[in-house]
Amino acid sequence: MDITGPGIKGQVAIVTGGVRGIGLGIGRRLAQEGCRVVIWDRDVSAFDTERAGFMPADLQRVDVSDFDSVQRAWDATLERVGHVEIMVNNAGINGPVTPVWEYPLEAWSRVLAVNLGGVFHCCRVATPAMRAAGYGRIVNVASAAGKEGVPGIAAYAAAKHGVVGFTKSLARELADSGVLVNCIAPVMTETDLLKEMTPEHIAASKAKIPMGRFLTVEEIAAMVAWIASPECSFTTGFAFDLSGGRANY
Ligand SMILES: NC(=O)c1ccc[n+]([C@@H]2O[C@H](COP(=O)([O-])OP(=O)(O)OC[C@H]3O[C@@H](n4cnc5c(N)ncnc54)[C@H](O)[C@@H]3O)[C@@H](O)[C@H]2O)c1
Repeated sequence: MDITGPGIKGQVAIVTGGVRGIGLGIGRRLAQEGCRVVIWDRDVSAFDTERAGFMPADLQRVDVSDFDSVQRAWDATLERVGHVEIMVNNAGINGPVTPVWEYPLEAWSRVLAVNLGGVFHCCRVATPAMRAAGYGRIVNVASAAGKEGVPGIAAYAAAKHGVVGFTKSLARELADSGVLVNCIAPVMTETDLLKEMTPEHIAASKAKIPMGRFLTVEEIAAMVAWIASPECSFTTGFAFDLSGGRANY
């Protein structure tokens, strides 16, 4: 495999939460670029190869909030595909839209465990092999809510701020290793995640986007394909905005 060229053909990419939504779009795009795409998701039975438009190199049922589950999936994937160059940590949940003083305690723990703990667990299993290979690209899916406060979703925003801080820290730990770690900060995108939100919250989010429309899954996937490639060679620990002009910081 030639990993010195500009493309990612032949590389193996794990995409967590890749059964639907943004993860599925990223998987599809990486498959189009010639990657062997591995899907990790808590609900793999919902993966539809025809709708996806590609055949995964491996499909593992994983709960990213559970380290043992992640370790088992990593071991099984490595045994099946042999090497992993790209890890896209996309699995996430929104949780309820509720003010902090009414926020359910169990929802707080779950949102943190999946959205932040999940990213740590997946990086924890993937980084030793990437360091040993002297090459890797990790892309964590944060959110615009990881850079600014959003009323009603404090747990989600706290977890996503955590993903940004975690990304910057791990990137510095790995800066001279050939393993680059970045994250993306997208604004609202029409996926099943919106089912967890109230209509008022969705309308307020759209109103904040100067381009006046939602982001698309394909736009996210295009950016991730570049960040995950060898062409992204001098940027690590960065949060790439996809904000339609909302982010000016
Ligand atoms: N949709 C948006 O507006 C938006 C905006 C910014 C960031 N994001 C982030 O993008 C990512 C994907 O969101 P989406 O909109 O595609 O959501 P989605 O609900 O459509 O898909 C999420 C996927 O993650 C999987 N998943 C959830 N919990 C999991 C777990 N514990 N272990 C393994 N898999 C799990 C689900 O089964 C599903 O396939 C999330 O991290 C989300 O926070 C979404």
